[in-house]
Amino acid sequence: MTTEVIAVVGGKWGDEGKGKIIDLLAENADVVIRPTGGANAGHTIKNHLGNFANHLMPGGIFNPDVDNIIGNNVAFNPQVFLSELDTLHKASVPTERVYISPRASLTLGFHQYLDGQQEQSKGDEYVGTTKQGIGPTYMDKAERVGLRTSLLKDPSLLMNCLAKVLARKTALYFPRGEVPEQFKPEYYEEMLKEACQVLGPMVQDTDRIINCHLDKGSRIILEGAQGTLLDVTYGTYPNVTSSGCTVMGLMEAAKIPPQNFSRSIGVFKAYDTKVGNGGFPSRMSDDLEARIREKGQEFGTTTGRERMVGWFDGVAAEYAQEINRFTDWVLLKGDVLTGEGPIYICRQYHDPKVGFKTNQFPLEDRDLQRYKPSLVNDGDLLPGWDEDFQGATKWEDLPQEFIKYVSSLFPHVPGARLAYIGTGPRREDGVNLFL
Ligand code: IMP
Ligand code: MG
Repeated sequence: MTTEVIAVVGGKWGDEGKGKIIDLLAENADVVIRPTGGANAGHTIKNHLGNFANHLMPGGIFNPDVDNIIGNNVAFNPQVFLSELDTLHKASVPTERVYISPRASLTLGFHQYLDGQQEQSKGDEYVGTTKQGIGPTYMDKAERVGLRTSLLKDPSLLMNCLAKVLARKTALYFPRGEVPEQFKPEYYEEMLKEACQVLGPMVQDTDRIINCHLDKGSRIILEGAQGTLLDVTYGTYPNVTSSGCTVMGLMEAAKIPPQNFSRSIGVFKAYDTKVGNGGFPSRMSDDLEARIREKGQEFGTTTGRERMVGWFDGVAAEYAQEINRFTDWVLLKGDVLTGEGPIYICRQYHDPKVGFKTNQFPLEDRDLQRYKPSLVNDGDLLPGWDEDFQGATKWEDLPQEFIKYVSSLFPHVPGARLAYIGTGPRREDGVNLFL
């Protein structure tokens, strides 16, 4: 058996449905690695065991034969993870094969506090973060003062290091004033005691575990968090998250060298969504947005915030494809657009400032914020469809007009093969072409 490494990456601003694809792929996988991001992510999974919203737990957890690895560049909030474990235990999901990288970063209450303060200080230019302390965690990592997950194996060293970090931050941020409780070590004592007890044994040399899998010919899935346009380098900066969200970002954080890499799957929805601040040219009109939001349940898994909804942005999709060079793509939630014809695609942007049209995704989010969508429905060639195809599993059972819409999206993901079409939220709802 030859080793196979498959990365699953969001094509836009996250919430494309990666959780469902991971859950499906995990049926035949040996390892699922969640390499990046933190509790900002919310991966919704509906399967025979129930409905779950995982933030940190890798999506392979529902297959008892899979090793689930929290990878090297995760912002790991032990409190969130403890409660996630609790939920899974209540649903009788076994969690014996969960391993936490010792190189991941600990996210604690003070990171969340600082996240809120940073956002406030930015005024109108707030990012719209999930307030999960993601930015401050990666700041600490880059500043080389972060607390790593290896400390969960040594409670007294952990409390020692934490006290030092908090003393330094207190001096920096509250030289005179009142010190919030998140900056006092006592605040964490009980939680961290439990975390060390329960999670300490899960902290293992995950790089070695991954090496063993690479050597023995395993099927390895890399679970992306957020999406390409939220990547800290390639995304719509500064309205992005603080970690890598592309195929390349996942490979580094999962410790997968290029020669072992096999496939990358870009996950797209039949319409687009975004939460947080920044440009979103293809946004729909208010009433349509509200309807699709309700039908597609487009509310933040982590924050409950309403997601903005737009037509499929082909310019952004081509950009995501340029960056990642996906070998495959999947299209989810087409069923949500049933009865919503005519269907539009954003194939170009119009820049009102200079009066020209472009199909080039801009380098700067400030430009994207100005752009208007050039929406086309291909000269009424996309009237939409009314036939309900929820739960369809065969290509033949998809409405003709829906197939026409899907075909119209092909040019926006050039060079990638369409591997799967989702037809509903459950694991079994979909037409599997090449997954
Ligand atoms: P942060 O990752 O919490 O710092 O948030 C930065 C930006 O990324 C904000 O616009 C968030 O709304 C967005 N974001 C972070 N995680 C997710 C996600 O899982 N889905 C969608 N948007 C996200
Ligand atoms: Mg999500």
